Amino acid sequence: MEWRETYKSKIVTPEEAVSKIKSGDRVVTGHACGEPGILLRAMVDNKDQYKDVEIVHMVAMGGAEYAQPGMEEHFRHNAIFVGGSTREAVNSGRADFTTCFFSEVPKMFREGFLPVDVALVQVSSPDENGNCSFGVSVDYTKPAAESAKIVIAEVNDQMPRTGGDTLINVKDLDYIVEASYPLIELHPPKIGDVERAIGENCASLINDGDTLQLGIGAIPDAVLLFLKDKKDLGIHSEMISDGVVELVEAGVITNKKKSLHPGKTVVSFIMGTKKLYDYINNNPDVEMYPVDYVNNPVVVAKNDNIISINSCVQVDLMGQVCSESIGDKQISGVGGQVDFVRGAMMAKGGKSIIAMPSTAGRGKVSRIVSRLDDGATVTTSRNDVDYIVTEYGIARLRGKTLRDRAKALINIAHPDFRTELIESFEKKFNTKF
Ligand code: COA
Repeated sequence: MEWRETYKSKIVTPEEAVSKIKSGDRVVTGHACGEPGILLRAMVDNKDQYKDVEIVHMVAMGGAEYAQPGMEEHFRHNAIFVGGSTREAVNSGRADFTTCFFSEVPKMFREGFLPVDVALVQVSSPDENGNCSFGVSVDYTKPAAESAKIVIAEVNDQMPRTGGDTLINVKDLDYIVEASYPLIELHPPKIGDVERAIGENCASLINDGDTLQLGIGAIPDAVLLFLKDKKDLGIHSEMISDGVVELVEAGVITNKKKSLHPGKTVVSFIMGTKKLYDYINNNPDVEMYPVDYVNNPVVVAKNDNIISINSCVQVDLMGQVCSESIGDKQISGVGGQVDFVRGAMMAKGGKSIIAMPSTAGRGKVSRIVSRLDDGATVTTSRNDVDYIVTEYGIARLRGKTLRDRAKALINIAHPDFRTELIESFEKKFNTKF
């Protein structure tokens, strides 16, 4: 059958599509700004037809209604990452959390740790060969579709077509729901004085020709503000947002000096505004690959002079980094942090930076602490950590004794907390600061 006929034969209504999900199934849904909004809506609207459907989702941008009170009988959310819309559900016990490096999520699907019954995905319209693109969310979404028993796709004509390894042929989709709506957008965060100071400190560690991985949020965006005078930067990153486009337009990001995929920005998912989505659409300079390639530390390490920049919640005086919990309350996940920390440390000339404001809770608590809070998760271990940056400066921990690490960290802590940190230093090391 010609692909156009195959395509037509698979078109169903959203209600018909979600009726293929059975009680007890594990459903994996597309990630971040690529989540399939119409299918998720139809699934929740028809909740009474399901019992105990497990919903696996990482960054849930659309409100995660399946995880809200009243849904317990029908859905159980299994989060691999916790965000604003799922935090309460996980911490109140209404949802579960599976801890996993982002790079290994596809393996979980493929190798039977989390077998996928149904993948709910959003893809672009097909090209002349019947290939749809996973667009802004290739990450674990493409591997989930490749592992699933049933693939249900929203074919959205507003989903950009992206290059790299992003295609699925209509013959591999089981049910198709046609859609036309603008993608979820993530607007740039507010950048305050503290973030600017952190951004400037991080930027001082970046040289012309380096390749960058940037996490999400105000700090990575603040770093970009201070890169305007750099030359020939490259991008190999789990994700990018709008700030990158400005640096491409300014001729700062050229990817020319990259040792892997020269000339190309390499990413796994994209979160931003329509300006960014228009930029990546059919853009041969941007290549997207599944996360088990982009985030694989061995692949990251093939990028000479790669600098990873991520953030955290707390760092203790040994350099143990907690990036995902406040005490034992899960607020986030490891995501790609350790993938890039490890990859950057293996790379020739690589550096990994964990950057954070020196305090939290409107200045009431120090993020540099003598001991992590009770129950806090060690996300990046003291053996992996390299640079810690705050608005007060830069501490390089790699290669330093525990005593010298503690000193370096106290020197970049907020001045209001240095006295108590020094007391604990002197007690622990039985020596004057
Ligand atoms: N004690 C108490 N509360 C703390 C705290 C601490 N040490 N550190 C942070 N918090 C609170 C903040 O005050 C804030 O509370 P609010 O929401 O009520 O304002 C909340 O926790 C979130 O902290 P904040 O630092 O503002 O979050 P962020 O949006 O900058 O994200 C991380 C920081 C660490 C959560 C985020 O970078 C992350 O998820 N990292 C792990 C994954 C990762 O690195 N992925 C990389 C590739 S994208």
